[in-house]
Amino acid sequence: MSFPTVRARRTRQTDLWRRMVRETRLTPDALIYPLFVIPGEGVRHPVSSMPGISQLSVDEAVKEARAAAEAGVPAVLLFAAPEQKDARASAALDPHGLAAEAITAVKSACPGLIVWADVCLCGATDHGHCGHVLADGAIDNDSSIQTLAQVALNYVHAGADAVAPSDMMDGRVQAIRRALDGDGCAMTPIVSYAAKYASSFYGPFREAAESAPAFGDRRSYQMDPANAREAVREVLLDIEEGADLVMVKPAGPYLDIIRRVREAVQVPVVAYQVSGEFSLIKAAAERGWIDERAAVLETLTGIQRAGADLIITYFAPEVARWLRSL
Ligand code: PBG
Repeated sequence: MSFPTVRARRTRQTDLWRRMVRETRLTPDALIYPLFVIPGEGVRHPVSSMPGISQLSVDEAVKEARAAAEAGVPAVLLFAAPEQKDARASAALDPHGLAAEAITAVKSACPGLIVWADVCLCGATDHGHCGHVLADGAIDNDSSIQTLAQVALNYVHAGADAVAPSDMMDGRVQAIRRALDGDGCAMTPIVSYAAKYASSFYGPFREAAESAPAFGDRRSYQMDPANAREAVREVLLDIEEGADLVMVKPAGPYLDIIRRVREAVQVPVVAYQVSGEFSLIKAAAERGWIDERAAVLETLTGIQRAGADLIITYFAPEVARWLRSL
């Protein structure tokens, strides 16, 4: 059968028809909102490359988290940019460090909100790399995963509901799982940044998290954007090591990866709409070149249609408000 018997437009005639046959439905339940925490009190320091996003002192981060929760966002992802940066990532290991303090404060102010803590060394090291750096400039995988496991344990003890390692060292999920299980935290999930690409779209984030590498780049640990099969391998390895959720990052330029991962695994798939993806939309909208709300909803729908169960996005509270008013 074909035209004129068949007419695809029949079920597109009215808004009600379109709503009924819609295949992908965005809901606030799928959104996670990232927050950047800095030292101080009463500080909201705008990130120049991310309009509307600020680095926040702990008290302000609590306010922002509360507002997100009130908008219907179920979870936040915390990043800390501590003042003290050294080779050992001491601030991340400190039980009273900035990240731990922020986790405890947000969790006690908003007990119903799920708090994910990003686990990495880049924000707390003087060289800005995600692992320990050897004398020759190489990244020392095996000592890094020991430190990352200690950092994760520190954050869980501070109150984190889940830890999200974003360093891309080999074996870190296993090291973290062992550390948590060995210390009475067997029920804390690990959200693994499993397929994280060495992307140009992280540029604005590095201003927000003060985590740009002082030398070199991250291509010896983050994935080559040209590779897709390798993403499936990374994800399967992380699940074998104990990852409870797996992430693909960035999201928009990697929809094929989200789809492949979705088809390869049975755990929830998270996609991270990263800072560069956020800022592109903001910049075009500021110039009147694009309808911001429509563009945001379209990108998130596309990410979900590709197979993501959950989406980390800087638009989360706004989107939750839009979805509620639809
Ligand atoms: C740090 C980290 C990065 C992002 C999340 N965790 C940056 C990087 O790897 O350089 C990027 C997030 C974004 O761009 O929004 N390991």
